[in-house]
Amino acid sequence: MAKGDLIVGLDVGTSTIQAIIGEMDGANVNVIGVGTARSEGIRKGAIVDIDKTVVAIRAAIDHAERMVGISISSAYVGVSGSHIDLIPSHGVVAVSATDREIGDQDVERVMDAARVLNLPAEREIVDVVPREFTVDGLSDVTDPRGMIGVRLEVDAYVATGSRTVLHNLLRCVERAGIEVAGMVMLPLAAADMVLSADEKKLGVVLVDVGAGSTTVSIFEHGRLERIAFVPIGGDSVTNDVTFGLQTGTDAAEVVKCRYGVADSSMAREEEKFKVQRIGSSMDKEVTTVELAYIIEPRMQEIFALVKREVESMGYPRGLPGGYVLCGGGMLLKGADRLAVQELGAPARVAIPDFVGVRDPSYVGCVGMIKYVSKFYNRQPVVAAGQGRRTRSGGALQKIKGWLQDFI
Ligand SMILES: Nc1ncnc2c1ncn2[C@@H]1O[C@H](COP(=O)(O)OP(=O)(O)OP(=O)(O)O)[C@@H](O)[C@H]1O
Ligand SMILES: [Mg+2]
Repeated sequence: MAKGDLIVGLDVGTSTIQAIIGEMDGANVNVIGVGTARSEGIRKGAIVDIDKTVVAIRAAIDHAERMVGISISSAYVGVSGSHIDLIPSHGVVAVSATDREIGDQDVERVMDAARVLNLPAEREIVDVVPREFTVDGLSDVTDPRGMIGVRLEVDAYVATGSRTVLHNLLRCVERAGIEVAGMVMLPLAAADMVLSADEKKLGVVLVDVGAGSTTVSIFEHGRLERIAFVPIGGDSVTNDVTFGLQTGTDAAEVVKCRYGVADSSMAREEEKFKVQRIGSSMDKEVTTVELAYIIEPRMQEIFALVKREVESMGYPRGLPGGYVLCGGGMLLKGADRLAVQELGAPARVAIPDFVGVRDPSYVGCVGMIKYVSKFYNRQPVVAAGQGRRTRSGGALQKIKGWLQDFI
């Protein structure tokens, strides 16, 4: 991509919709605009109300547009959630060049070969992730380009998602007036930004504690190996506060974010706040210790379920690189401390290193901008600015192809 080209990433989450505008600067990408809107019409990552979701997407896009003074025409859309599945696949092609040097085209062809799968009608391909290439029987090749060979093979994971869930998501984005430039697997995008090459090689667990669910992705040998979902997140904590303090959901969310701590040993009896009780005109005084006693068990449960998922995916002793945590759920004070205790392993919270988005809830969406700038470099620009030409492109064609009998 050329300097000044713009990339827009859109993360349609359960609690928040984020639209981030990135501008290419050589091999780097800078975040120049951020728009957020409260999500409406989404439960546990799946759209349950199209109209409300369209309005919320439009609000996030408008917000980002105003910040930068451009008009956004298309965006890359993040995909995650329990409907995602990784299916192992294999592709084989003959190297095409007469001098037998493997080029970009051969890699594309072998990836396309790995994409050929007998999928049930209700599944759609989101992405194909190479695990390793084999050139004339020599395995464990990470990048075969430039090598000499006759036969190129790839072991890949095909990420598939529910056709209905994906279709609804893309339909909402298009109805908000935005062309879909491509779909990006959020855990891959997040990992690319926050995990080091050594962590991925050694083995590490990336955990995204969202509002509706928690995503657990395992990276080993430099690549994504497994993915699992825990069906609870920050919304469950808010729910517990709602019941525990007998207050409304909005009040519970404010109280959780302002006074909540994940580790009750950090709370103090003398710190008090007032909250309105349902069915009463009187405010109730609550100490932060009482609040922490409501929050702590749920956060412990989230981390216990994460640990259990890692164990059941075949890693009973965890991964040597420990845990890297992101998602808005990790904004809760003391969540990092509790994570180390409950997971029994080193854990750190990942934060994007860009002005305006230094918060773990932006990891997926900022990661998406970086991921697109790195891996989609033959794809076109995706935002229209004053004086900038709108170009739309190949990736959209691809998605349209996958969903042609639906859209
Ligand atoms: N300051 C804070 N303290 C505690 N929790 C917070 C804070 N800020 C946000 N959260 C929680 O983070 C969650 C939202 O995180 P995030 O934006 O990553 O979710 P999402 O992407 O919308 O949801 P999902 O990924 O599940 O679809 C909410 O449950 C919210 O209550
Ligand atoms: Mg999310």
